[in-house]
Amino acid sequence: MERTFVAVKPDGVQRGLCGEIMKRFEQRGFRLVAAKFQQASEEHMQKHYLDLKDKPFYQGLCKYMSSGPVFAMVWEGRSIVKLGRMMLGETNPADSKPGSIRGDLCIDIGRNIIHGSDTLENAKTEIGLWFKAEELVDYKPCSQAFLYE
Ligand code: RTP
Ligand code: MG
Repeated sequence: MERTFVAVKPDGVQRGLCGEIMKRFEQRGFRLVAAKFQQASEEHMQKHYLDLKDKPFYQGLCKYMSSGPVFAMVWEGRSIVKLGRMMLGETNPADSKPGSIRGDLCIDIGRNIIHGSDTLENAKTEIGLWFKAEELVDYKPCSQAFLYE
C-alpha cells in the first residue's frame, strides 16, 4: 500500500470544498490515515515547495499558501500517488478534464484548491514535514476485502 499527502489549499478551504474533496477520496475507496486543519507558516510552505524554489511564482505561492488555513491529509491505497494525481487533474485547471477535482471545481492555476504529492518519494518527504509519526493512525478498514481482490 502507498501513502500520499493531500492538502486543501486556502482557496479550497474558504470556498467550503474540504468535504467534497474528502468525499472523493473516501468514495474511491482510499483510507484516511491522518488529517490536520492548520494555518502553516511561510517558512513551512517554503520547505514544502522547495523543489520549486527557482520558479518565478515560488515566493507568491508560499505567501499565498500560508495566508489562510489548509486542510492537510494523508491517504492510503494501492497506487494512490498516481491515482491521486489523476483525481486532482492537471496543475492548470484549464487543462483539467471534467470529472477531476480541478476540472470540476476551479478555474485559475494560482487558485487550484488542492495539493497532491507527485511521486512516492515526495509523498514520504511531505508526510514527514506535515505529520509526526504518532499522528498517522493505523487501523484496518472493514471495506478492505471488498476493495481489493
Ligand atoms: P501542487 O504541488 O500544489 O499539488 O501542484 P502541482 O504539482 O500540480 O504543480 P507544481 O508544479 O508543483 O506547482 C505548485 C503550484 O504552483 C502554482 N503554479 N503556478 N503561474 C504558474 O505558471 C504556476 N505554475 C504552478 C500552482 O498553484 C501549482 O499548484
Ligand atoms: Mg507539485
